[in-house]
Amino acid sequence: MSDIVTPTLDNLSEESRTFPPSDSFAAAANVTADAYREADADRLGFWAERARRLDWATPFEQVLDWSNAPFARWFADGRLNVAVNCLDRHVAAGLGDRVAFYFEGEPGDSRTITYRELTDDVCRAANALTDLGVRAGDRVAIYMPMIPETVVAMLACARLGAPHTVVFGGFSSEALATRILDCDAHVVITADGGWRRGSVAPLKPAVDDALAQCPDVDAVLVVRRTGNDVAWTEGRDHWWHETVDPASPHHDPEAFDAEHPLYVMYTSGTTGKPKGILHTSAGYLTGCSWTQYEVFDVKPESDVYWTAADIGWVTGHSYIVYGPLSNATTSVLYEGTPDFPDKDRWWSIIEKYRVSILYCAPTAIRTHMKWGHEYAARHDLSSLRVIGSVGEPINPEAYIWYRSHIGGDRTPVVDTWWQTETGSIMISPLPGVTAGKPGAAMTPLPGVSADVVDDDGNSVPNGSGGYLVLTEPWPSMLRTIWGDDDRYRETYWSRFPGRYFAGDGAKRDADGDIWLLGRVDDVMNVAGHRLSTTEIESALVANPKVAEAAVVGRADETTGQAVVAFVILRSEAGDGGPHVAAELRDWVANQIGKIARPAQIMVVAELPKTRSGKIMRRLLRDVAENRPVGDVTTLADTTVMETIRSGMASSANQED
Ligand code: WT7
Repeated sequence: MSDIVTPTLDNLSEESRTFPPSDSFAAAANVTADAYREADADRLGFWAERARRLDWATPFEQVLDWSNAPFARWFADGRLNVAVNCLDRHVAAGLGDRVAFYFEGEPGDSRTITYRELTDDVCRAANALTDLGVRAGDRVAIYMPMIPETVVAMLACARLGAPHTVVFGGFSSEALATRILDCDAHVVITADGGWRRGSVAPLKPAVDDALAQCPDVDAVLVVRRTGNDVAWTEGRDHWWHETVDPASPHHDPEAFDAEHPLYVMYTSGTTGKPKGILHTSAGYLTGCSWTQYEVFDVKPESDVYWTAADIGWVTGHSYIVYGPLSNATTSVLYEGTPDFPDKDRWWSIIEKYRVSILYCAPTAIRTHMKWGHEYAARHDLSSLRVIGSVGEPINPEAYIWYRSHIGGDRTPVVDTWWQTETGSIMISPLPGVTAGKPGAAMTPLPGVSADVVDDDGNSVPNGSGGYLVLTEPWPSMLRTIWGDDDRYRETYWSRFPGRYFAGDGAKRDADGDIWLLGRVDDVMNVAGHRLSTTEIESALVANPKVAEAAVVGRADETTGQAVVAFVILRSEAGDGGPHVAAELRDWVANQIGKIARPAQIMVVAELPKTRSGKIMRRLLRDVAENRPVGDVTTLADTTVMETIRSGMASSANQED
C-alpha cells in the first residue's frame, strides 16, 4: 500500500467558518440529533425501524445475520419486491398523479412522468422482458443514455428479480463485453444513441461490437431515442417501441427474499479487472431510501430533487432511481451536458422546475467556478434549499463558492462520503443538525460506525490522519464481488481484520470531525470517476508498441486528478513515431472508455523500480506534479528519476 496522499490538507485550515442550520430549517427538519442517540442505544433496532419504512410482503423477524462474516444477511427472513416499493405502493396510496420525473432532453424536449405512468411502463417492460425469456435470477445488461427508459428498464428488472448491470454509456465496447461476460448476461437493453452537445452519441455500434465476443446474448432491446440509423441483427434485436409499448400494463409482482440480488455495478479496483459489486434487495433499499430522506431532508410532497449524475454510476442508482422513488420524490432527469447550448443549462433547469435539492460532484462545481458565477446569476435559484456534494473531497474554496453562488448563502451544504460498495451515504452532515465545515464530511450517519486508524489498526487521536474503516456492518453494504468471494474478503476485510477497509485516507480534526483525503491505494479519482492505475497500465501494455507502463494520477484543478502515463516502448517500435502519444491515448479510450484517456503520455527509457521490481508510483507522481522527487534510496537505479524528470519538462500537456 502506498503512502497517504494529502493534496488538500494544507488548504484546509484557511477556511474556519462553520455553517449551522438556521432555526427555521432545524425546526422543520426530518431528522434531529435524537437519531444519533437512538442508533447508539440500539443500532440493530434503529435499522429495523428504518427497514419497516418499506412495504414487506412477508415481514422480517431477523435483523442481521453476521454469523458468516464478512458475508452479511440483513432482514433475511422477510420478502418484498423492490419495484413495488418504488411504484405500486405509492399509486395505491393515492399518489399516482404525483410527478416521478421531469425529464429534460438535451435538445430541449421534455416529458413529465407521473408515478402511475411510470408504474404502467415498468409493468409493460416487465412483461416484454418475460416474453424475451428473462426469469428471476437472470442478469440483464443495460447500456443507455440518460432517458426515462433507463429507469424503466432497471425497475422492470427489479420487478422480475433479474439483477441488472448498468454499464456507463461512456465505456467502450471492450469494457461492455468484459462486464457482460463476467456476470453472464443474456439480454442487453440499449438505445440507438443519446444527445450530447447537439450531436448523437451512438450506443448500438458498441453493443454490436461487444456482442461479437458474447455468444450467449440472445436478445437486444433497443430504444429509439435519436432516430439515427443502426445496424440490425434479425431475430436478436427488438425495438423497444414495438415490444414494450404494446405490452400489457398489468403485471403481478412476485415477492423476493430480502437477500435476492438486485444489481451488479462494476467499479475499478487495484488490479486490472473491474470488480462486480453485488447489492441485494431490502438492505440496499433501506439504506438509500432512509439516507435520501435524512441527508437531503426530502419532503416528497413539495420538493423537486435533482441528482446531476449519470445513472451508469452508483450515485445514479441510489439517488436518481432507488432512493428517490422509494420515498415518492419528484426528481429531475437530465440527458445532457452542463454547457449545452450554453454554460447556464443547469441553472436554467433549476429555475424551470423550481428544483429545491441539488446533488452533484465537486468536479462539476469547480468547472462552473471556472466558467464564472455570471451564468448562475442569470437565473432564479431561490427554490434551492439543500445542496449536496459527492464523489471526491470538496475543497473549501469550491464549497464556499457553491454555498454562496448556488445556495444563495442560505442553503446547507451536505458533503457526502460513500462508495459503490457502501450502497448509500455513510458520512455526512445532517442539514438540520450539523454545523457544516467547508471541506469536511463531518460524522458517520446514525447507525453507521466509522473510525480512522493507523497502520496497526489503532484509532488515531483527534488532529491526526490515517485510514478510514467502517467498524460494523450496515444494511446497504455490498454482499460480495460477483463470482469472487475471496477477492471480496481479501480487498475489504483483510487489511484490518473484522473491519471494512474503504481505501481512503482520512483525518480527524480537533473536534473529532472527519475529513476525507483521497485514495491510499492504486485507485484514481478523475472527475469523480473511479479509475484503476493497473487497469490503464494493462490496457497500455496490450498495445503492440508498448513494453511496460506506469500510470499515476496527478492533481488537477478541475478534475481532482488527471491520468499521466509513463511508457517504455518495445525495441521493435523504435521511437514509436511522431504521433505515438496521441495514438496511445486513443488506444486507452478505445480499450476502456474516454474517461480513462490519459491527459499526458511520456515515453521513457526506464521506470523507477525498487530492487524487488515494484514500480515506485510515488516518485512518478512527484515528477508529474512538478515536485522535487522524494526519497530514491530504495530504487535499484537512482539515476533513472533524473532522466525522467528532464524528459517530462520538455513534453507538453497533450490534453484536448
Ligand atoms: C470513492 C468512491 C459514492 C458515489 C460516487 C463515487 C471518493 C466519494 C467522497 C467525499 C471525499 C469521496 C472516495 C471513495 N469519495 N465521496 N464526499 N469526499 N471523497 O463512488 O466510484 O465508488 O468512488 O470516491 O475516494 O472511496 P465510487
